[in-house]
Order: sequence, then C-alpha cells, then structure tokens
Amino acid sequence: MTQKCRIFLLFIVFQVVMVVANTVSEEAAALKAVADGFQNKPGSWNGFDPCGSVWLGVNCTNYHITSIILPSAGVTGTLAGDIGNLPELLFLDLSYNPDLGGSLPASIGKLQKLKNLILLGCGFSGQIPPELGNLQCLTILALNANKLRGQIPPALGNLSSLYLFDITGNEISGSIPISDGINPGLDMLRRTEHFHFGSNNLSGNIPPKLFHSGMAIEHLIFDNNNFTGSIPSTINLVPSLEALRLDGNKLTGLVPSTLNRLTSMKQLYLSNNLLTGPLPNLTGMNALSYVDLSNNSFDGSDVPPWFSSLPSLTTLLLEKSHVQGQIPAGLFSFSPLQIVGLKNNLFNGTLVIDADYSTQLQLVDLQNNDISDFHNDGNYKNVILLTDNPVCGQGSNEKYCAVPTQNSAPYSTPDSCIGIECPSEQALSPNCFCSYPYEGTLYFRLLTVSNLQNKTYYQDLEKHLLTMFQDGKVPVDSVAIRDPIIDATHYLEISVEVFPSRKVKFDQGDIVVIASFFSNQILEASYYFGLYYFIPKPYIPILGGGSSSKSSNTAAIAGASIGGVVALLVVISLVISVMMQKKKKAKKKMEHGSPFGSWDPSKSGESAPQLKGARWFSFEELKKCTDNFSESNHIGSGGYGKVYKGTLPDGQMVAVKRSQENSLQGGHEFKTEIELLTRVHHKNLVNLVGFCFDQGEQMLVYEYLPNGTLKESLSGMSVIRLDWKKRLWIALDAARGLSYLHYLADPPIVHRDIKSNNILLDSHLHAKVADFGLSKPMADDRKGHVTTQVKGTMGYLDPEYYMTQLLTEKSDVYSFGVLLLELITARKPIERNKYIVREVKAAIDRKKELYGLGQLVDSTIGLSNTLAGFNRFVDLALMCVEESGTDRPTMSEVVKQIESIMQLAGINPNPESASTSASYDDSSRGHLYGNEALVNYSGAIHSPRSDTK
Ligand SMILES: *[C@@H]1O[C@H](CO)[C@@H](O)[C@H](O)[C@H]1NC(C)=O
Ligand SMILES: *[C@@H]1O[C@H](CO)[C@@H](O)[C@H](O)[C@H]1NC(C)=O
Ligand SMILES: *[C@@H]1O[C@H](CO)[C@@H](O)[C@H](O)[C@H]1NC(C)=O
Ligand SMILES: *[C@@H]1O[C@H](CO)[C@@H](O)[C@H](O)[C@H]1NC(C)=O
Ligand SMILES: *[C@@H]1O[C@H](CO)[C@@H](O)[C@H](O)[C@H]1NC(C)=O
Repeated sequence: MTQKCRIFLLFIVFQVVMVVANTVSEEAAALKAVADGFQNKPGSWNGFDPCGSVWLGVNCTNYHITSIILPSAGVTGTLAGDIGNLPELLFLDLSYNPDLGGSLPASIGKLQKLKNLILLGCGFSGQIPPELGNLQCLTILALNANKLRGQIPPALGNLSSLYLFDITGNEISGSIPISDGINPGLDMLRRTEHFHFGSNNLSGNIPPKLFHSGMAIEHLIFDNNNFTGSIPSTINLVPSLEALRLDGNKLTGLVPSTLNRLTSMKQLYLSNNLLTGPLPNLTGMNALSYVDLSNNSFDGSDVPPWFSSLPSLTTLLLEKSHVQGQIPAGLFSFSPLQIVGLKNNLFNGTLVIDADYSTQLQLVDLQNNDISDFHNDGNYKNVILLTDNPVCGQGSNEKYCAVPTQNSAPYSTPDSCIGIECPSEQALSPNCFCSYPYEGTLYFRLLTVSNLQNKTYYQDLEKHLLTMFQDGKVPVDSVAIRDPIIDATHYLEISVEVFPSRKVKFDQGDIVVIASFFSNQILEASYYFGLYYFIPKPYIPILGGGSSSKSSNTAAIAGASIGGVVALLVVISLVISVMMQKKKKAKKKMEHGSPFGSWDPSKSGESAPQLKGARWFSFEELKKCTDNFSESNHIGSGGYGKVYKGTLPDGQMVAVKRSQENSLQGGHEFKTEIELLTRVHHKNLVNLVGFCFDQGEQMLVYEYLPNGTLKESLSGMSVIRLDWKKRLWIALDAARGLSYLHYLADPPIVHRDIKSNNILLDSHLHAKVADFGLSKPMADDRKGHVTTQVKGTMGYLDPEYYMTQLLTEKSDVYSFGVLLLELITARKPIERNKYIVREVKAAIDRKKELYGLGQLVDSTIGLSNTLAGFNRFVDLALMCVEESGTDRPTMSEVVKQIESIMQLAGINPNPESASTSASYDDSSRGHLYGNEALVNYSGAIHSPRSDTK
C-alpha cells in the first residue's frame, strides 16, 4: 500500500466514523471551545471528534468525555468556562502547565461527577470559586503551587467525599471557615484525611471547632502561614492525627496538656512560633518519630523526662528552647534516636556519652551551650558538635570544636560511565546513555526518616519510581536523583531526572503519562519518604519541537472508546499503517547489521549452545509470532525489557521475553544462561521453549500460561477468585518449584526475585515459578553464598541480604514468606507506607480466632468457610520472614509444612498416581492437573532430568 493509498483509506474511514461514532455533540463542542481557549494545545487535538479520533489525554466512555489528563503538555492560555459542559467528566488533571492561568471558571462546579480536580503547578490566579463546593463526588482537590488568592470559600465544607485537600503554596489569606448552622465550613469535611495548607497567608485562630470526633484527619499541615492564638485543646478529639505541622506561624500560649492523647502521631512540628509555658509533655506518644519544638518561648526547664521514654523517637529538635542543667547520663542510650539538635540552650556541666549510647546515633548538636567538659566513654564516632561551649576554650583543636562546614549533598545516583560526554542540553543516565531527561523536584512535606546521609532511602526511591513507570509501561531507562536538602520551610527537596529508554527524548504521550504519575499525589514515591508533591521543569525537546508525535497517538487509540464495525475498521487501518512504519524501521535496523555474532545454525560461526530440546528462533520468526511485538501482545515488563505473548505456527502459545538494549548480556553469558535454563525442568517452573540470538536481539521464549500472574488474581485484576484451598495449592506449587531450584537444579539456583508477579497460573490454577532466567547460580564452594550486587523487589527483599549483600537461598525463603502473607491478605507487600510483615506482626494475637488477623484477611478467600490450617500457615509465613536467615526454614522444610497444613484442610497434597508425572486429581478443583502440561513439557524438552519431582 502506498502512502497515498493509506491516507486515502484513513480519510474515508474517518468520514464514516464522523457520522456513526461521534462524541455527544454538545460535549465535543464544549471541548473544542476549551481547546480554543488554550493558546498552545496538544498537536493531536485537531481531529474531527475528541472520542473518535485520538486526542491526547482524552478518554471517553460511551461517547461521553470522562477524563482529561494532560499534565506537562505545554498547554498555555486560560481554561474556558465551557469545561463545565462535560457532565460525565470524572478526572480533570491539567497540572504542570505553568503558563495556563487566569481564574478558575466557576462552571467547574457543574461537573457533578468529578472525582479528581488536579491543577497542580499551573499559573491560576484569583479566587477559588465557591461553586467547587457543589462537587459531591470530589475526592481529590489539588490546587497546590498556583497563584490563588482570596479566602477559602466556606462552601468547600460541602465536599462530602473529599479525601485530599491541597492548597499548599498559594497566596490564600483569611481564616479557616467553620460552619455556624447557616453557612458551611471545613469542620464538615468528615472524610478528609489530608489538609495540606502550608505556605499560604492564612491567619486568625486555628478554630477549635475544626476538631471533633467526627473528623478523620491524618495530616494537618498548616505550616508557614500567619496563624495566631493558641493551639486549641480540642485537637485531642481527633485520634487519627498522624502528622501535625503548625511550624512557622505566630501561635502563642500554652501547648494543650492533652496533646499526648494523640498516640498515633508520628511527626510533630511546632517550631518557630511564640508558644509559652512549660515544654509540652509528650509522654505516651509512642508512635512519635520526629519532634521539632525549636525556637519558641518556652519556660526554662531541665531535660523533660519523655525525652528518653518515647520508643519510636528518631529525631528530636529542641533548639533555642531554654533547656538547662546537666545532660543526664544515659540520655543517648535510648535506642532509636538518630539526630539530636539541642543548640542554643543552657546545658552545663559535663557531657558524657557512655558505652550504651544508641547505635543509631548520627548527630548530637550542642553548639552554643555552657558545657565545660566532655567524656566519650562509648567511643562514639559520629558527629558531635560542641562549638561555642566552654569545653572548646581557646586553642582547642578537638574535632568536636570545629565550626561545622556545610555538608555536601548526601546523595546522588552513582554511575560508572567513563569518558562519555553528552551533547549540550542532554544528560547522562545512570546506565550511561545520553538523552533528554524529564526533570523536576520532589517535595516531601514530612520528614519520615531522620538520617539523611543513609543511602538506603534514596536507592529505594530510585527503585520505587522506576518500578512505577515500568509498571505503567512508560519507556523509562532509569531514574536518577540528587541533591536532597531540607529547604527553608522544612520540606525535604530531592531533584529527580527520568531518562527515556531506547530513544533520545520522550514523546509527548510519554511525558503526559509520567507527569500524571507525579501529579497523582496519592501515590507514594517510596517506602521511606511518604507523600510528596512534584514540580517539573518544562520539557524543552517537545515544547521547543512543536507538533506531537505519532506513537503517542497509537497508545491513545486503545483508550478511545469506539463501537461498531466501522470503528473496528479504523483500528485495523491504523494498525496496518503503524505496522508498515515499524517494518520500515526494522528494515533499517537490519541494514545496520548486528553487532553480535549469530547462532543461526545454518551459518554458525560460534558454537551454538547445547540445545537439549530448546529451540533456536530467528528474529523474523518471533517478530511474526508476536505480531511485530505489538502493544496488544505486550503482557509484562521488567528491568530486563518486555514480555510479549505470541503464537507459534503450530498453535502453541508462548511468552517472549525480549531484552532491551541496555540489559543485553555478552554473547558468552547469554549462551551460559540458556544452557543453564535448558537443564532446569520441573512442573512448577515455567518452561523454556527456546531462544533467539539474532540481529542484535536476545530473547527467551517460554511457555505461555493463560491465567496470568498470581498478583493479577490477588489484586482482582483478573476474573479469577482464589479460595483458601486454591491458595494452599498455589503456595505448595511455588514452594516445590523453588525447592527444586535450591536443591535439585544443577548448579543450584537462588531465584532472587520471588514475588507474586513471578508466580504464574496455568489453566488449572496450578502455579509455576517464572523469571529465574536472571537468577544467580549458587557458588560451588562450601560457603554456599554469593556476594553480588543486590537485586530483587522492594517489599520482598530479605533485609539481611540487603545489608550484607551475601546471597543465600534463605533470601528466597524470606521473599516466599512475604508471598505467603500476600496470599492471605491480598495486599501488596508495601501499601500506603505499610509493610505487610510489620503489619501482621503488630496485629497478631495468638489467643484470638484467626490469630486476630481477621481484619487483614482478604475477603475473597471466603471467611464463611473455616480456614483450616490458617494459624499454622501464618506461623510458617512468619518463620520464613525471621530477621536472620539461619532462623528461617529451608524450602524443603517449607514444602513439608505446607503439605501437612493441606492435610489439615482435607486436601491430599500428593494425589496417588502410579506415574512419575503425578497427575494431581484434586477433587476440590474438579480438574486433572499435570497431564496436559506435562505432555507439552516433554514435547519441548528432552532432558534426562525432566522427570525430576
Ligand atoms: C500577619 O497577620 C498580622 C495581623 O494578624 C498582620 O499585621 C501581618 O501583616 C500578617 N503578615 C503577613 C505576612 O501577611
Ligand atoms: C506527663 O503525662 C503523663 C501521662 O499522661 C503523666 O503520667 C505525667 O505525670 C505527666 N508529667 C508531667 C510532668 O506532667
Ligand atoms: C547548671 O545549671 C543549673 C541551672 O541553671 C544550676 O543550678 C547548676 O548549678 C549549674 N551547674 C553547673 C555545674 O554549673
Ligand atoms: C539505613 O537505613 C536502613 C533502613 O532504615 C537501615 O536498615 C540501615 O541500618 C541504615 N544504615 C545506616 C548506616 O544507618
Ligand atoms: C484511558 O483509557 C486507557 C485505555 O482503555 C486506559 O488504559 C487508561 O487508564 C484510561 N485513562 C483513564 C484516566 O481512565
């Protein structure tokens, strides 16, 4: 088909679509009017029909426009009032378009179904329209980092579904509106967990009526405003409060003596106010980890007793607080304490750091006190600052007397690139590619960690962000972070760069997806750092470059809802056109030739790997069987690349794992890996069908399992519902597969990445372990461990391995324990900052039914049935996640335990069968398991070990 032909076909099809499948016409007109209000709209916003054609960021349902998600799209101009004429709109996100401004149209209040209104980092000015109070379904209202002025409209008290209320960083003034029987007020926001009002110009008292037992506030963040009066004592009526920031105001009077009833509180910032009276009594606030009371006008006092009795306290800042007297012995022996800031006080006498000081202790800052002597009995080696104390009299050259120098930035993502210079404007990724990163700053409102020198936190953040993008199918190569600092408003700022994969710059579609992850402030950026907001820099290569790209359009096609035969035609013709383009590209690639040798058996120069039944595939074959690696066949991704579904000419379904450029191995390593994989056979391991090493590509071809991953089933993403017995089977299957890898594979293999994503379900819901392709064989030596760069997935990662970098099979046991907990709870290992292992340990009460874990148990298990063996299952899971590897069972012990639990539950884990290829006749499932799979299995593989159990 020639180019002309194709265009003509598309033209005809679109004409027909115009008649048959157009957006409800008033909505189309409204959105076109909105588009006209933009001075610079996305290139794709030109088609005939917002739903029928492919407008970037617009999603429709039944020809109604339901979402407009367009962050960082370079939109400028104003938001037209016509936006109010999209009655079915659920999501509106125009964040990070700093030149989109003017006032917010009152007509937004007509969007009765709107759930998210996210306009973060734009240029909106003027007042918040009171009409927004009509949005009964609104859960997220994020207006932070604009130029909004005026008062908070009392009508916003009517937002009865609101969860997050964020106006941080505007110029909002006036007081907090409270209901009075006639007018509404914010005390009516009973569902709102997050009040983020920092860095505005709010004034007046913090109204006592804001706090009552009907409120669900978790974060009350009122820092850096102009509030006066005292902290209302009613605050103790909201026991859900986890973080309170009132720092940087003009609050006066006593801190309410009942504050310590707020026992869920983790972060308390009262610094930089005018508070008086005694230091508050924080005794009993056992969750408290961060306390800053500095720079108030408290009465002079000795060190308060609670200082050394709070079991979670890691940071205590009590600067310029008139604290006096001798520092009590043992003050720093309190175990979790890491950072102690006591400068500008009146401490005197001798400072003793005795032998049992906290091992976590990083910094003791006692500058400008009256300390005359210092004994370091405990050989404390971290920072201590005693500058401007008598002990540092003239001529003292002790290190602790030096004037502290400004710390250099504690972290920046390392790379090992040598001698690579990038063109100007481009930057070097941690994987040593030059490209245009999408960059910006993360702002964390609460310090959830104390020791900002600890690399663990940043590495976790990098990993978390990367996983978030890769799970979201964005072509991201890597994420680099640097320059963490605490800014003047006591927010933690971290710079972030996101690098594109396999290309020099992101296209506009990619940017919008990446930006929408960031603008969704409900997502947590990491396990350690908690809620954030993000402000990007403009993405120059696109904004400078003009029109939008084609590939974003194809992605959006999937999103557009189109009905009828005609619409199908559109898709087909577009797919054809895209295929032709890709074909051209592929051709080009071939012409460039492959940098590697090829193992095409017909012209092999290097020796092909010993196949043992695994097939060699050419690039062309796999390209064909995956429909040219089409998006619709894309079923998963990971650090190594992508996985595609494919169908071989004989009808067998396969999963093709295609390494991306930066994770290609050397030819020799790849060959070794294939040879290893072809020796590994077990009915509970996903079977390698073949491989491709051709045209510079490395691909592994596995059997395809139709029921997807365990994660999909547990998260409700698939239609499969797993009852207790099925879960026991899955646990047993996975344990058997893993046990085989540890003890029977030759050489033994540590999987390193056991997680629910890597447990696949076959047509009978039996489980197979996948992705041991990147596993590490265990060392041959007797020590039985391998030192290696830590790999794995946060949440499943064995803490011992993480710290020591020594890999043993017990690290898999840990991950398996997490998997068992996931099977019970169907929760992600880390969800909303909560770690499943810790949650279960905290909730467990062995005296109660279900060990008191009823609340945590996944409801789809079917609680109506008794969960026979549940308690022992929990015990086993907790044994697997013991801190120390030596306390964990081996996988073969785990297999035995699960088998005996299954017997308790009335299941025979070893259904009788004469043959070695045990056909499980599990009547609870009503299926024969094994036979069919094993036939395939032995059809593909002829290894002497293929019958190993
Ligand atoms: C804070 O409030 C006081 C009066 O309560 C006012 O005089 C002052 O100008 C305000 N400060 C700012 C920065 O608005
Ligand atoms: C601090 O509060 C605790 C618990 O409410 C109480 O037992 C203790 O007496 C209080 N201490 C002082 C000095 O008021
Ligand atoms: C330390 O200060 C306290 C209170 O200000 C005072 O009573 C005490 O005598 C001082 N001790 C020394 C050794 O100066
Ligand atoms: C860094 O933080 C991690 C996680 O909290 C902790 O396990 C580790 O001990 C810390 N490392 C140092 C050197 O403090
Ligand atoms: C838009 O549609 C696509 C494809 O159906 C979907 O993946 C995406 O999540 C949708 N976006 C929103 C915000 O609903």
